[in-house]
Amino acid sequence: MKSLANGIGVFLALVLALPSFARLQDEVFIPSNPPEMTRIVSRHSPAHQAAAHFMRGVNLGNYLEVPPGQSWRVTITTSDFDDIQAEGFDHIRVPVAWHLYAGSAPDFELSNDIFRQVDFVLTNALPRHLAVMLNLHGFDDFTRDPVANSEKFIALWRQIAEHYARLPDTVVFELFNEPHDAATTAVINPLYDRAIAEIRKTNPRRAIVVGPGQWNNVDELKNLVLPNDDDNLIVSVHCYDPFLFTHQGANWAGPDVKTTGVQFPGPPARPLVPDPSLKSRWAIDWIHDYNTLPTDKNPSSPLAFAGKLKLARAWADYYGRPVHVGEFGCFTTADPVSRARFYAGFRRALDEQKLGWAIWDWNAGFRYWDGKKNEPAPGLRESLFGKTK
Ligand code: BGC
Repeated sequence: MKSLANGIGVFLALVLALPSFARLQDEVFIPSNPPEMTRIVSRHSPAHQAAAHFMRGVNLGNYLEVPPGQSWRVTITTSDFDDIQAEGFDHIRVPVAWHLYAGSAPDFELSNDIFRQVDFVLTNALPRHLAVMLNLHGFDDFTRDPVANSEKFIALWRQIAEHYARLPDTVVFELFNEPHDAATTAVINPLYDRAIAEIRKTNPRRAIVVGPGQWNNVDELKNLVLPNDDDNLIVSVHCYDPFLFTHQGANWAGPDVKTTGVQFPGPPARPLVPDPSLKSRWAIDWIHDYNTLPTDKNPSSPLAFAGKLKLARAWADYYGRPVHVGEFGCFTTADPVSRARFYAGFRRALDEQKLGWAIWDWNAGFRYWDGKKNEPAPGLRESLFGKTK
C-alpha cells in the first residue's frame, strides 16, 4: 500500500508539475552558435546603452538606396523630420547605396554627392533628437561574390567612418543590409570582423550594427560569430512574416505573392481564391490554412512572428548582445484595416520581448506617412503609438 501510495504521489506530483515543466522547457534557450561566439555578461554594455536610443524607428525607404539618376518617387524634406519626430519615433534607419557612388579600385573613393545627401539627413535628424542608423543597402555585387567585393566593402566603411568620426554616439553604422545568397553568415562573419577593426581606428566608441545572413533572418542568428573583444555591437534582424500577407501584390517579391485580398488576421469570412497562376505548393497550402484555421492557429496572425521575436530575445539575453528589429512592415496593397491590425499586433509582440524596432517604411510603398494628405495612413498612429492625436 505504502509503495502504491508513494507511486501515486510521485505520479500526481509529476502531472501537477508538467505544465510548469513544459513552460520552462519552452522558455529555456539552448544556444547552438559556434563555440567562438562567447557570451557578454553585462546588460549595461556600451551596445545596450546605444540600443536604448533605437527603440521606435522608421526606415527612410526608397530614398538614398535608389541608384543615382533614378527616382522611386520618394522625396524627403525638412518637414518630414518634423513629422517623424512629432509622431513619436525616436530614430530613423537610413538605407544608403554607398557602393554606387564609389570610384574604382584600389581606393573606391566615395563621391561628395552621396556625403552631401547623407549630411542633409543627419543635420536635420540630430537637432530633432532623432538617432540615426546608417546602413549599406542593396550591394548586390557583394551578395553574388563577397570575396571579390570585400576590399570595396572595407574601403567604403573606412571612408564613411572617417567622414563621420566626430558625430555624436547616437549615429550608428550598420555594416550590411540583408546579406543573402553567397553572403552567408559564415562568409560574412570574418568580413564583419575586418570592417569593425577598420571602423574602430577612427570611431572607437560608436555602436556598430551587424546582422545574420538569409536576409537578416532570426533563424540565422545561430551562425553569427562576433568579435569577443568588442562590446559595442548591436545585432539586426528583419521579419516580414506572414510574407503572403505583408508582400501581397509586391511585384519585386516573386510569383508566390500574386494573390491579393489576404487579411490580417485570418480566417476570412469568405474563402480567398488563390491567383490562378499560383504554382508553389507551400503558398497554396498556406492559403488553404488561412481559409480554414481559427485565428489562434491561422498563419495570417501573430503566430507568424511571435515565435521569431521570442527567439530573438532569448538569443540576445543568452549572448548579451542587444537585438534590433530593423525592418518589418506591410505593403499598401493590403486593406487598411488589416494593415493597422498587423502593425498593432507586431508592435505588441515587440513590446512583449522588449525589442527596439524600425518599420519599413516612412513614405514609400509600405508607408506610415501619407504625404498627400499630410497624415499617417489609416490606423497606423493608433497601432504603433496607441494615440489618435
Ligand atoms: C528592400 C526594399 C523592400 C523592402 C520590403 C527592403 O529591404 O530594400 O526595396 O521594399 O525590403 O520588401
